[in-house]
Amino acid sequence: MEAPAIFTEAEVYQRSFNPQEYLKAFYTLSDSRGQPNTFLTKSLKSLYKMFSLGEFKAELLRSPPPSARFQEILALDYTDQNRRELQKWLKNEAGAFDWSPVVKYVCELEGDREKWAEKEENVRKKVRQVLKCDVTRANP
Ligand SMILES: C[S@@+](CC[C@H](N)C(=O)[O-])C[C@H]1O[C@@H](n2cnc3c(N)ncnc32)[C@H](O)[C@@H]1O
Repeated sequence: MEAPAIFTEAEVYQRSFNPQEYLKAFYTLSDSRGQPNTFLTKSLKSLYKMFSLGEFKAELLRSPPPSARFQEILALDYTDQNRRELQKWLKNEAGAFDWSPVVKYVCELEGDREKWAEKEENVRKKVRQVLKCDVTRANP
């Protein structure tokens, strides 16, 4: 018999997930000693290749993609603090995570690094809603 899949339950995230700490750890291009975050750069390169194939279509994306290939983006997450964190970035609020190094890196992959600010703004505009969801439910 197959072992059951083990998930961290959504309420655990609600109680203990710190989006700022998470983003600092996983979405910063280099650490405090200047070591590159190869996990992030490799993931971004793979995503770039996947989106470049031109066949990726989605009605819904769970996280905003770094590039603006979609007409509309609905951002979904269970926890209040994560949706709030995203709202801070959408509204350009003080204390929002600085995505610009990641955006610049992706724009460089796309061959137009100088347009990074314009592209970041385009992605912001395409996020139409930030909604609570629970992906484990039949009707999330
Ligand atoms: C480890 S983080 C990954 C975040 C991001 N997708 C990434 O790859 O960097 C897991 C995310 O899933 C969300 N999450 C966990 N359980 C969920 C559920 N049942 N429904 C919706 N979101 C959930 C958490 O709030 C958290 O934002």
